[in-house]
Amino acid sequence: MKKIIGPFAQILPLTGMPLKGALRDEQLQILENAWVLINNERVVSIGKIERLKADHPSAQIEEIEGSYVLLPGFIDCHTHICYAGNRAKDYAMRINGKTYLEIAASGGGIWDSVTQTRAADEDTLVDLLVKRANRHLADGVTTIEVKSGYGLSVEQELKQLRAIKEASYKTKATLVPTCLAAHLHPRDFGGTAEEYLHHIANYLLPVLKKENLANRVDIFIEQGAFKPQAAQHYLNKAKAMGFDITVHADQFSTGGSEVAIEVGAVSADHLEASKAKEIKALAKSDTVAVVLPGASLGLGMHYAPARKLLDAGACLAIASDWNPGSAPMGDLLLQAAVLSAAEKLSTAEVFAGLTYRAAHALRLTNRGTLATGTPAIMQAYPTDDYREILYHQGKLKPVILY
Ligand code: NIG
Ligand code: FE
Repeated sequence: MKKIIGPFAQILPLTGMPLKGALRDEQLQILENAWVLINNERVVSIGKIERLKADHPSAQIEEIEGSYVLLPGFIDCHTHICYAGNRAKDYAMRINGKTYLEIAASGGGIWDSVTQTRAADEDTLVDLLVKRANRHLADGVTTIEVKSGYGLSVEQELKQLRAIKEASYKTKATLVPTCLAAHLHPRDFGGTAEEYLHHIANYLLPVLKKENLANRVDIFIEQGAFKPQAAQHYLNKAKAMGFDITVHADQFSTGGSEVAIEVGAVSADHLEASKAKEIKALAKSDTVAVVLPGASLGLGMHYAPARKLLDAGACLAIASDWNPGSAPMGDLLLQAAVLSAAEKLSTAEVFAGLTYRAAHALRLTNRGTLATGTPAIMQAYPTDDYREILYHQGKLKPVILY
């Protein structure tokens, strides 16, 4: 059934912009007083009502009241929202001066969430995940990457990834699963970190293919997690099995982004520790640089060098990293707005990083823009000026239109 919805004070289709590098707001296409024609949940055309009506006389007209700015739904290309319990205890320790790595070394951190998530059954994980996905959806985040990584055994990782699959049938948000069995060397695995990576490559990754549970593999390269060389070996195996690769890279120390580029990862995420050398290499590569301001806010540390990455020519996406430890807030728009003020990012750069550039990190070619044939997954903000969206720093809430 064809529908013409509008009028919108402004429609920003986010089309016709480059995949990489800095962007000026003048590069944003802004269609004023425009309507969108939808058929079978896909965009057919965007433009003035007279033209749309003339071209599609049988379409039903749906007129909206008030002023709205229309954008494609946001894409959060990095989250860990399949977990049970919480880590309020870690947060209290951190604001009392303990570091993330110190808390992890003393038995808190990721391992604490592993214990709490292992204790939950699959249905509980599904319920918790659906609630978080729906909260994100209400904030305009319509596509959400979700990592495992709090199971850390073949069986427990499968439980998490099955929960993500089941949850995807129970929310209107699109969930994109990623296997992060290589989040940490589990202390109850009877072997070295390298042996653990061999174990999951041999006994977990083939099951993911067979059960169609994930097409993406992630690893945390860091002191206290996995070393670059072992990680590279694991990622090359995963790649040979057909998985897309993404890496938790350069969060506290460098080494990860180099591996990500070397193995042809779709993205290298975090990058708070990246310096000139890493920035230059990322800019030259096809690997999307994903920055995670929510982790900087949760840990009380500096932001990743987003401005420098864009100026060097990188493809920059912004994601929430929503997780129980380092980034418990999970408000993507708030985080992107705060990052834009700190790092001096233009509205165009932020919107690109939350839409089509994030889609690229997930290899979703038809999402993150509004154009003929794209899914009509849209959000409308109650304003007549797109600049108000970042200005209100997450407090202006959208209406979701499918
Ligand atoms: O992206 N850095 C590693 N992993 C997550 C944190 C997960 C956790 O603390 O539970 C991150 O920040
Ligand atoms: Fe993360």
